[in-house]
Amino acid sequence: MKIRFTGALLGSLFILVACNNVHHSEAPVWKEVVKPTLGEEEAKVEAPKEALTGIEKGKHIWTTTCIQCHNADPNIKGKIGPETVDAPLEVMTAKVMTGLYPDPLPAGFVPKRKTRAMRKLPQFKDDIPDIWAYVQSVKKK
Ligand code: HEC
Repeated sequence: MKIRFTGALLGSLFILVACNNVHHSEAPVWKEVVKPTLGEEEAKVEAPKEALTGIEKGKHIWTTTCIQCHNADPNIKGKIGPETVDAPLEVMTAKVMTGLYPDPLPAGFVPKRKTRAMRKLPQFKDDIPDIWAYVQSVKKK
């Protein structure tokens, strides 16, 4: 429950930050006009986005995006997606970039599902090692 709540909170922060960016990009004189008048609340929302790196960034992406299908706990299957702790980096990279398992599969790896239900999320290209590191950091067995 706590994890879900945190996920929802991070999710709304993410949306807030996203909306914020849209707003900024529409303002032609952002630096001069908008920045000096940034309210305290806006500043707080922007800070964590800049600060997140490595495993923390991977966790953020997992808990805001991947849990739409996977479980908040990567050791357990979610409502659509299976557990991901046993997938090598190569497999996670293929799933995120193409939605599909790599062909050929890495030696000894057995896909958790034979379905093709995952959509590709190539916007996370550079973050895959961080997501993978986060998933491995919470692996139980
Ligand atoms: C639309 C739902 C959906 C989303 C969003 C999603 N996945 Fe998946 N994922 C799946 C499904 C379903 C499978 C099982 C194979 C299939 O049907 O594609 C899977 C399989 C995987 C596997 C292989 C697990 C194994 O051991 O067989 C990995 C790794 C993975 N996903 C990582 C991710 C990551 C990382 C994200 C977020 C960036 C993510 N997925 C987002 C649905 C999703």
